[in-house]
Amino acid sequence: MIFKKSGLLVLIFSVIAFVGAHAQQEDAAVVERRIEGLLEQMTLAEKAGQLTQFSDVGDVTGPASADASVQKKRELVKSGLVGSMLNVVGTENVRALQKIAVEESRLGIPAVFAFDVIHGHKTMFPIPLAEAASWDLDLIEQSARVAAVEASAQGLNWTFAPMVDISRDPRWGRVMEGAGEDPFLGAEIAIARVRGFQGDDLAAEDTIAATLKHFAAYGFAESGKDYNAADIGTVTLFNVVAPPFKAAIERAGALTVMNSFNTLNGIPATGDAYLQRDVLKGDWEFEGVVISDWGSGIEMIDHGFAADARDAARLAMNAGSDVDMESHVYAEYLPSLVESGEVALGDVDDAVRRVLRMKFKLGLFDDPYRYLDAARENASLMTPEHRVMARQMAEASIVLLKNEGGALPLGKGERIALIGALAADKDTPLGNWRGRAEAGSAISVKEAFAAAGVDFSYVEGAPVENGEASFPTEVQVNLTDRSGFDAAVAAARAADKVVLVLGEDAYQSGEGRSRANIGLPGVQDDLLKAVYAANPNVALVVMSGRPLVLTWADAHVPAIVQAWHLGHESGPAITDMLLGKVNPSGKLPMTFPRSEGQIPIYYNYLNTGRPGPRPEVFWSHYTDEENAPLYPFGHGLSYTAFEYGRLRVRDVDGGVEVSVRVQNSGGREGREVVQLYIRDRVASISRPVRELKGFEKISLKPGQRKTVRFKLTEEQLGFYDGRGAFRLEPGAYDVFVGGSSAAGLTASFELKSGR
Ligand code: BGC
Repeated sequence: MIFKKSGLLVLIFSVIAFVGAHAQQEDAAVVERRIEGLLEQMTLAEKAGQLTQFSDVGDVTGPASADASVQKKRELVKSGLVGSMLNVVGTENVRALQKIAVEESRLGIPAVFAFDVIHGHKTMFPIPLAEAASWDLDLIEQSARVAAVEASAQGLNWTFAPMVDISRDPRWGRVMEGAGEDPFLGAEIAIARVRGFQGDDLAAEDTIAATLKHFAAYGFAESGKDYNAADIGTVTLFNVVAPPFKAAIERAGALTVMNSFNTLNGIPATGDAYLQRDVLKGDWEFEGVVISDWGSGIEMIDHGFAADARDAARLAMNAGSDVDMESHVYAEYLPSLVESGEVALGDVDDAVRRVLRMKFKLGLFDDPYRYLDAARENASLMTPEHRVMARQMAEASIVLLKNEGGALPLGKGERIALIGALAADKDTPLGNWRGRAEAGSAISVKEAFAAAGVDFSYVEGAPVENGEASFPTEVQVNLTDRSGFDAAVAAARAADKVVLVLGEDAYQSGEGRSRANIGLPGVQDDLLKAVYAANPNVALVVMSGRPLVLTWADAHVPAIVQAWHLGHESGPAITDMLLGKVNPSGKLPMTFPRSEGQIPIYYNYLNTGRPGPRPEVFWSHYTDEENAPLYPFGHGLSYTAFEYGRLRVRDVDGGVEVSVRVQNSGGREGREVVQLYIRDRVASISRPVRELKGFEKISLKPGQRKTVRFKLTEEQLGFYDGRGAFRLEPGAYDVFVGGSSAAGLTASFELKSGR
């Protein structure tokens, strides 16, 4: 309003904006001059040092190097041979090293301190896959914001998150760390997370640099086995793998990108010049830092791509991998590689510029100790406000998979048998990649039941694993101990209803945690069957870091709740949902298969030349399994019901508008994720049967209606060809709108012209 009324004000604001932009340009020019000044003074060894990242010795997150000692690392920092560190946490620890870098090294260049802040730092939020199930971008951004506040208060400036790897394979343990199978949802979530971490001003003391990882196709590890080769065509690369990276660079300004352990079509990503130089830094004009994954440089020897460590350094630098994390090859070989002409000095300088620019952006040249305020550290970790947000996020992440005959919510006065080791587990809900969370500090379902005054008795039934699980060691699944079954059966018999909490330990998903069989681990399937035989009124609550095969459960038990690993507030969130105080609103970000043989399974597949069903065998199907998944992408129930109608499509400026009317036709207030899918019927490359192109999470009171409008832009209607060129082709499109990828309401439209 003000702008319209007063020409003078408009003028003043324009002048301020102009002066602001001008000042920014000036600042950038000053920074560039200072960077050039430093480059002139740096020896080759110091340049290689800026490109070298070491882990602290204690908490390694990869194979520890043999020659690592605290003393040695300090000496390297002092010699200016380490530009950044990971796994050094806490203002005191960071200050000790920063002091050496700034006050004892020759040029006094501050170090950057990185850490895997994945789903919270001290206050644990749900694992990223669970957060993705909320489809709530505001909450997801807030979650990353809280993580940044806590991590930066502990002296950190850089997180290796978000992981934006699209994956269609629930056997791959790292699906817990991503946003699932869909590039559109994945891109929106990547943007929200980067915004949450980086905020508006990277130099602010409570923001940290984000890392998009792992570039590229790490989520396509063959047979779902971590670190395995990926072989995908370029159409999948550009249309499925790339979108979250590209979007978060272009729309959220992600400062860094991590490459990946895997080969892609035979080339290890760290040594892939096409990916890093041509696509990322070339076509996408990415100006930030590319960091290797832990030791992914040196691993090129095992890939049979590099002859030795020197060769690995040469290949990685020439391919555009700027920083070497824990391969120890840049510090050692880059200087001599430049001297021999095998690596261009210009490439090394370009990489160093990127690192120094990052340090300027983080404000470390202005004040290297700016993140090191002990009072702030004490005041910022696990605050009551952070717990409230973790609770909201946990509630929004739960997915109600099945609810027959109103089995849930639990009725007042019902006697409940609470069964399952995970119901009392205070550690598993923290999930894998749990930052600085204290082991065993989550609120369990059992504790929350007691606090809520539920009339219940608890029986363990069977342990999930033997002994303690931890980040670097294999989980020893309980395959034999059924000694608690009898007590569980007795408790089930004596109760009106059973709440059975089964699933995976925190460390059964995550890095290095691929599983070939993704049913309920160990004896838990048998426990489920035994309890069900005693009392069929079972609500099964599944904790897991991935979609599990729940086919037997789906065929028998009336209610199934997907409760992932929900963080510190897991117990209260699950309890309120079971009691009906919270109406579930999560939707699956990944397809749940009926059996492992269907994997890879995803909703946006290509149609084959022989879709079915057909009377003869000559169509694309299994003889011993259905084609359809158990639960499709986007699926999730509510305690209320939503009706969709009045689907309209019309041309608008720059695209097509799709509108739909959604009504809450049930008896209570609820939230629904309205989803829009399209199908490009005929194109120069076969297009998926459905592709998500829009969603909105809305809240409706009983009887209330809302018209939701989506704009399909040209960018959303087009696709990338095998060379990575964007194409928008005229022709017919189908539209599907509803509450899952199986949405039934359809319309179609014709795109008259392309580009
Ligand atoms: C993981 C990365 C992680 C890095 C540092 C690697 O093993 O693949 O995602 O950021 O370790 O901890």
